[in-house]
Amino acid sequence: MSEERKATLTVDGKSVDFPVMKGTHGNDVIDIRTLGGKTGYFTYDSGFLSTASCQSHITFIDGDKGELLYRGYPIEQLAEKCNFLDVAYLLRNGELPNAAQKADFEKTIRRHTLVHDQLTRFYNGFRRDAHPMAVIVGVAGALSAFYHQGMNYSLVEHRDVCFQRIIAKIPTIISLAYRYTTGLPFMYARNDLDYAANFMYMMFGVPCEEYKVNPVLSRALDIIFILHADHEQNASTSTVRLAGSSGANPFACVAAGISCLWGPAHGGANEACLRMLEEIGDVSRVGEYINRSKDKNDSFKLMGFGHRVYKNFDPRAKLMGKVCADVLAELGLENDRLFKLAQKLEKIALEDDYFIEKKLYPNVDFYSGIVQKALGIPTSMFTCIFALARTAGWLAQWEEMITDPEYKIGRPRQLYVGAARRNVPDISKR
Ligand code: ACO
Repeated sequence: MSEERKATLTVDGKSVDFPVMKGTHGNDVIDIRTLGGKTGYFTYDSGFLSTASCQSHITFIDGDKGELLYRGYPIEQLAEKCNFLDVAYLLRNGELPNAAQKADFEKTIRRHTLVHDQLTRFYNGFRRDAHPMAVIVGVAGALSAFYHQGMNYSLVEHRDVCFQRIIAKIPTIISLAYRYTTGLPFMYARNDLDYAANFMYMMFGVPCEEYKVNPVLSRALDIIFILHADHEQNASTSTVRLAGSSGANPFACVAAGISCLWGPAHGGANEACLRMLEEIGDVSRVGEYINRSKDKNDSFKLMGFGHRVYKNFDPRAKLMGKVCADVLAELGLENDRLFKLAQKLEKIALEDDYFIEKKLYPNVDFYSGIVQKALGIPTSMFTCIFALARTAGWLAQWEEMITDPEYKIGRPRQLYVGAARRNVPDISKR
């Protein structure tokens, strides 16, 4: 029998033992849940630099090796051998589907792409120039109004339906946001197309002529979805878990995840990266911008560089660089100005001592903006594509949490540094 490991902390001269929990891979953790009761202290870890917020079976990242596993499978193999729906199924169920399960799941998703017609009227409440992320936060949240009564998420059948509905409808919601901003008519899904191809059709098709899907481009989009599907306890996933920990409606939790993802330090980075490349404009100005990013007195950062966990390389960025080259070759854009600029920027930054010392490497967002631009997706929609894909991970993580027997509402504590206790003065005399 293996001996239970313990970590001993000395607090105010007294030794206190805590169990050590071992994972499959990665850092072991010290279980400090009893720390407050045993010592009267809390831990302080703003930004969660050393805190495991949950136990999870879903995704593992080795930041030093540059490795990303979904349910144990390397991202490189999944991107080569699977489609996005296989990966969504895997994230939620723990195993890849067999042939019959795959056919059944794909058919179910195809059959759930329509949204309640009433939901399409929500778009009219938005300004035409509203940012599409603002629109999809609202519309995804509004889905909770359509699927709330009668749902009991302690039942697996209800969780099945919830997963199917949102995976099927999120491309529809996002494409409608795009159609609304451009004034194009809303397109209904085509059941003969696969998930990524259908999304392209709903985005770019028109009712008056046939839309021909380019398989190289739709496969590229499918790989983009796979690369963004989950990333363990990142900010938006933790947001979904925290929102869901109160028992909130899962559609509303996804809306919370979308809100968090929008920020430029997270999913908004691909949009910010492309805007940065446009601003740099020419290879001759790369040095100037690299110097700015190193200047402590300048808030400018190289967008698409750096990651909290990856300190060697981001494996998704490598795959994205390859997808980018394939798409540009298919479209005859190999000499695309921004692609050339991005390659030059990457090369110079990777040879620069500042970036080497701080272990700053291109992240997934560095090339994803260029690929999406080449696919015809407008810059303001980039983060919506990320949200579409990450919805699979959010829902898998949400379900893992609410079915965990140890699950509790998320409730961090704090170090209070505000005013000491005092009496309220008589305001009329102030
Ligand atoms: N350009 C220049 N310097 C940088 C960059 C960058 N992109 N990223 C980090 N640094 C510097 C920081 O200034 C800091 O320097 P210091 O040690 O002198 O203070 C050091 O590197 C460590 O960076 P932190 O910001 O402390 O690292 P953290 O883990 O908190 O942040 C983050 C990671 C948010 C991704 C950061 O690297 C960043 O803002 N990058 C640009 C935005 C981006 O690409 N985000 C996408 C992330 S991937 C994703 O969400 C899919």
